[in-house]
Amino acid sequence: MLALALAAPLSGTAQTAPVLPAGFSVQNVAVLAGTCANCHGPQGRSTGGIPTLRGQDASHLLQRMQAFKANRAADATIMNRLMQGYDESQIQALAAWFSQEVQP
Ligand code: HEC
Repeated sequence: MLALALAAPLSGTAQTAPVLPAGFSVQNVAVLAGTCANCHGPQGRSTGGIPTLRGQDASHLLQRMQAFKANRAADATIMNRLMQGYDESQIQALAAWFSQEVQP
């Protein structure tokens, strides 16, 4: 279930890098992503047991966050609750951001 293609919502063209959803600036996403650093490390590069986000496939990040939000992730301890506070476009922006295709 996790590895199946979900790149389409991020961009119309499957082979190109994901782009930020309409209405998002790099600054917007930097603020959103800043809260993740407490657990996932500076810039999403973990220094502990919590997964590193930076550099993972955008489609993987997107699927994981959507699964957390929908309470479909069996391994969730905290992310299922956290993701309730983010809408779909914010989740897409965060996936693009941490996949490194969007940089400050
Ligand atoms: C309170 C600590 C905490 C915060 C804050 C947090 N996370 Fe997480 N995150 C976790 C933990 C712990 C996991 C492992 C799954 C679980 O236990 O829920 C995880 C897993 C993930 C995963 C799955 C990674 C993978 O490869 O499987 C993604 C994606 C993710 N978080 C994104 C985010 C984003 C984006 C933010 C900021 C909006 C964020 N997280 C904020 C603790 C946190």
